[in-house]
Amino acid sequence: MHLTGARVLITGAGSGLGRRMALEAAGLGAELVVWDLNALAGERVAEEIRTLGGRASAQAVDVTDSGAVSSAAEEAGAVDVLINNAGVVTGKRLLEASEAQIRRTFEVNALALYWTTRAFLPGMLERGRGKVVTIASAAGLIGVAKQTDYSASKWAAMGFAESLRAELRKDRAPVSTLVVAPYYIDTGMFDGVRTKWPLVLPILQERDVARRVVDAIERDRLQLVMPPFLRVQPIGRMLPVVAWDWLADLLGVNDTMDEFTGRQAVEHQERTPQP
Ligand SMILES: NC(=O)c1ccc[n+]([C@@H]2O[C@H](COP(=O)([O-])OP(=O)(O)OC[C@H]3O[C@@H](n4cnc5c(N)ncnc54)[C@H](O)[C@@H]3O)[C@@H](O)[C@H]2O)c1
Repeated sequence: MHLTGARVLITGAGSGLGRRMALEAAGLGAELVVWDLNALAGERVAEEIRTLGGRASAQAVDVTDSGAVSSAAEEAGAVDVLINNAGVVTGKRLLEASEAQIRRTFEVNALALYWTTRAFLPGMLERGRGKVVTIASAAGLIGVAKQTDYSASKWAAMGFAESLRAELRKDRAPVSTLVVAPYYIDTGMFDGVRTKWPLVLPILQERDVARRVVDAIERDRLQLVMPPFLRVQPIGRMLPVVAWDWLADLLGVNDTMDEFTGRQAVEHQERTPQP
């Protein structure tokens, strides 16, 4: 789908990858609707786009609140592309994370996909045009230590995206999907993570990932896995578990989070839209 003249809504676009994708899409002539829990951050991104000569508006929305999502969607109006990008990580061992943190991870990374997509899909079907993008994660392909909640929520996101595509295909609906599974990105979300083999599993650059996603939207690709090495994952899945464990140890994937201290210390703040 060409982005020139398209209306693109990105959740969690107040920072990181969401902000960068918004800037890239605006650069191609799309009109942006910036959603973020943090009102100030969202407004800043919309302002940044307008300063650069683009078109953008912002709305403070907690995507876990289905009622708030449907009212904000009504206010936003029709969109051609919905990018489900908002995400959170706990980065704690199973016994260290609080119940509230675990619930929050699933609410934002998995359940919210239902509320936003259900809000915008009817309009896309009615207008005979649309694309739903799911920003999942490599953690949705490979389970990693200290990520039981994050990884499981991203597996759910991958499953959501795949089932949605199957449903739309079966109904011959005029709406397409794209699912994105990147390894770690330098946005700060996973501050302190390490990679053992940077040549095959590099820490990705935010700008590069954003460009690749926007390009995949324009080329109507269905799936984007980054870096390409991660495409070996289905082979790993077919191996006996001990062989998979051996490969994971060789790649050091379970050690990546050793020095990661987690991002949900401000859990309460995340629940309340910031001024
Ligand atoms: N950073 C990585 O290493 C990495 C790797 C793979 C996938 N991802 C995924 O990419 C996406 C973007 O991550 P990022 O690195 O840019 O993170 P980030 O923390 O920089 O940005 C996430 C944004 O989502 C917003 N947000 C959080 N909860 C929200 C809610 N309930 N409602 C609305 N907005 C909310 C935050 O305010 C923030 O602006 C996430 O889905 C993440 O899981 C990130």
